[in-house]
Amino acid sequence: MTLPDRSALSRRDYLRTLVAIGGATALSACVSESDEIDVPAGTDDPDSLPERQHAWNDTLTRDDDGNVKPPEHHVLVPLSLVGEPTDERRAQLEDALRTLERAYEWSNDGLVFTIGYTPAYFDRFDEPLPESVALPNPEPLAAGEDPAFDEFDAVLHLASDHSQVVLEAEEGLFGDHDELNGIEIETDLSGVFDRLEDQRRTGFVGAGLPAEHTDLSGVPDSIPEDAPFFMGFRSGFADSQATEDRVTIEDGPFAGATTQHIESLDLQLRTWFEQDSQSMRVRKLFSPAHADDDRVGEVGENLSASNGLTDERIDATAADARTRGVVGHAQKAARARDDDGPPLLRRDFNTVDGDAPGVHFLALQRSIDDFVRTREAMTGADLDVMPANNGILSYIFVTRRGNYLLPPRSLRALPRANPQ
Ligand code: HEM
Repeated sequence: MTLPDRSALSRRDYLRTLVAIGGATALSACVSESDEIDVPAGTDDPDSLPERQHAWNDTLTRDDDGNVKPPEHHVLVPLSLVGEPTDERRAQLEDALRTLERAYEWSNDGLVFTIGYTPAYFDRFDEPLPESVALPNPEPLAAGEDPAFDEFDAVLHLASDHSQVVLEAEEGLFGDHDELNGIEIETDLSGVFDRLEDQRRTGFVGAGLPAEHTDLSGVPDSIPEDAPFFMGFRSGFADSQATEDRVTIEDGPFAGATTQHIESLDLQLRTWFEQDSQSMRVRKLFSPAHADDDRVGEVGENLSASNGLTDERIDATAADARTRGVVGHAQKAARARDDDGPPLLRRDFNTVDGDAPGVHFLALQRSIDDFVRTREAMTGADLDVMPANNGILSYIFVTRRGNYLLPPRSLRALPRANPQ
């Protein structure tokens, strides 16, 4: 494996590139670059961690407006089961995951992670999933898309502010690395899962990180310096996110679980930044009124804990399409809100996998139906507006989709379809 030319990249970009490459050589380059980072140790009592795997918000840091700050580095490791899910393999997987929890604090500075299982994994059991779990096979969700589907067994999502931590955790579980943050690894995942390296996905979130990729032909120089996401604006405001309670399955044997959808998207950033004005970008991403009232700022700095969408603006979506000839992405998607607010907890991140800009749009919701309903609202096939002005639809291209169940921690190791 060839490492990138260190002298051609900023330190942050070099570390990001090492995460994308993965493997032992990338890890050792990363360690020598990360001059003695002090990574906080985990807990001696993993049972003290929350029962929900997706309980990240209480431990993650917040920005000045109180919005959750996602970790900077992400790896999605697709997994294929080596044999049948036996109790011995369950114990081995649980041991290995507990080693991660002992090694790293459950935080941005340490490591947060989840393991999720596909419908294909659960198909091997005689009994179906209980009725309280809605986990259909992934399918195309919009006209014209032809995505590949995640049909392997499971995915491990590793996230940390330190590139060294995500790489080390992955190598500890699947490679030859024998120590995690000073803790000896007694159990890895060999004989339980194979890592599907050709489908490994990586990414990053953080102000200034997208603009470090203007060396790629798909990323224009005009991308704002401080943008945290490729399309140029802040995202993930507290008021437009579901709470962790809202996305949790409450009943049945998988109480405490959630479902996860991963939609991978390629982005047409040159057209986005070079064809449209800033004001048009605000109309298409937020709503026409956001642009009229200059509510957003260059990258969303004028917004705080809300994306500024009022009930009135959300209800005006169809009228905006007709009378203004343009509708906003957030405005459309917000039509899926109900009495409990937005149904999706979005934890998406930027990617340059394949040397092209994209997004791995990862969303948690109580049921995959909540995702489908929100995606339909976002697609806005019902709206009387030309495709180029229908939010961001003409700049995004879906390449993959996957549905997962993230069981509660106590059932995370190779769960049976019906644990009762
Ligand atoms: C490249 C892809 C995408 C980009 C750049 C993007 C960007 C944004 C931005 C900037 C906002 C407004 C800020 C906020 O509310 O946090 C937003 C809101 C939202 N987006 Fe996206 N998004 C993308 C894809 C998707 C997809 C695939 C979905 C799936 C349904 C989605 C669902 C939502 C929802 C539900 C909201 C909040 C609506 C509300 O306020 O209730 N987005 N997005």
